Amino acid sequence: MEEKRILCVGLVCLDIISVVDVYPPEDTDTRCLSQRWQRGGNASNSCTVLSLLGAPCAFMGSLAPGHAADFVLADLRRYAVELTHLVPHPESSFPTSIVISSASRGTRTILHTNRNLPDVTAQDFEQVDLTQYKWIHWEGRNAAEQVKMIQRVEEYNRTCPAHQRVSTSVEVEKPRKELYQLFGYGDVVFVSKDVAKDFGFHSAPEAVKGLHTRVRPGATVICAWAEAGADALGPDGELVHSDAFPPETIVDTLGAGDTFNAAVLLALSRGQRLQEALAFGCQVAGRKCGVHGYDGIV
Ligand code: ADP
Ligand code: FRU
Repeated sequence: MEEKRILCVGLVCLDIISVVDVYPPEDTDTRCLSQRWQRGGNASNSCTVLSLLGAPCAFMGSLAPGHAADFVLADLRRYAVELTHLVPHPESSFPTSIVISSASRGTRTILHTNRNLPDVTAQDFEQVDLTQYKWIHWEGRNAAEQVKMIQRVEEYNRTCPAHQRVSTSVEVEKPRKELYQLFGYGDVVFVSKDVAKDFGFHSAPEAVKGLHTRVRPGATVICAWAEAGADALGPDGELVHSDAFPPETIVDTLGAGDTFNAAVLLALSRGQRLQEALAFGCQVAGRKCGVHGYDGIV
């Protein structure tokens, strides 16, 4: 039987990336090492990685028209990401990010603009045929609507046998209060270092232990912490850790977190244990840091 797909719901945008040796001082005129356009957005980046790892996947997100949209659509097709759940917004502007990626420091500085592109709604999500998917991942954005989407999946799961249920995950990446209601939903909750710090935690193990009470019973909370690797607390209270797998030379850390999320959820969806999934996430994310973009992570 064909492997069921993984659906990622969230943003697709255009990243205009300048690679520099050292981040430039303000009001200077510097030559970059290179410059490129790249499809971006957390959920869209995670789809790229899932595809490269050989997992059938689909993207759901809003789409404004224009040259940038043509570019990202062609790129999504290039990576064989299924596109049946794009929601068109003909009156909106396409979101873009200016990214300064500093090769020598391993930093990526993002200036994002999203003027008026509405996020996917629970009503849009009603169109999704849940029988097609084994896992649905939400990049935390319009949290109140996303809660309704997850509740629809939970309701569906109650009506079908265990092997047909859809697993769910959410990513709480931006330190925004509105997003924190998402902690209570999903089988797996990915929390970023920024969010962990917003709660006053100083490390990934501290964060997963501290945030475990906020996730629903039986859920797993996972926190990645750049060169410190990642930690997770599973349903039975087991705390697991993986060190990072730094490449020989770090060239581009943009999307390392999205890569980590994709690899972890793929491993979990294939029945691997939390410890293995975390190590796999760190391995793939480490390889990503050693290449520009995503080609070459496998
Ligand atoms: P992001 O800033 O994109 O959200 P994170 O800092 O959460 O990414 O890192 C995600 C994963 O990527 C980490 O768990 C680690 O495995 C890997 N990673 C990120 N930065 C580095 C780095 N400088 N060296 C080695 N691995 C890294
Ligand atoms: C990386 C990323 C970029 C995008 C930005 C949006 O994680 O998804 O591709 O420009 O974050 O916040």
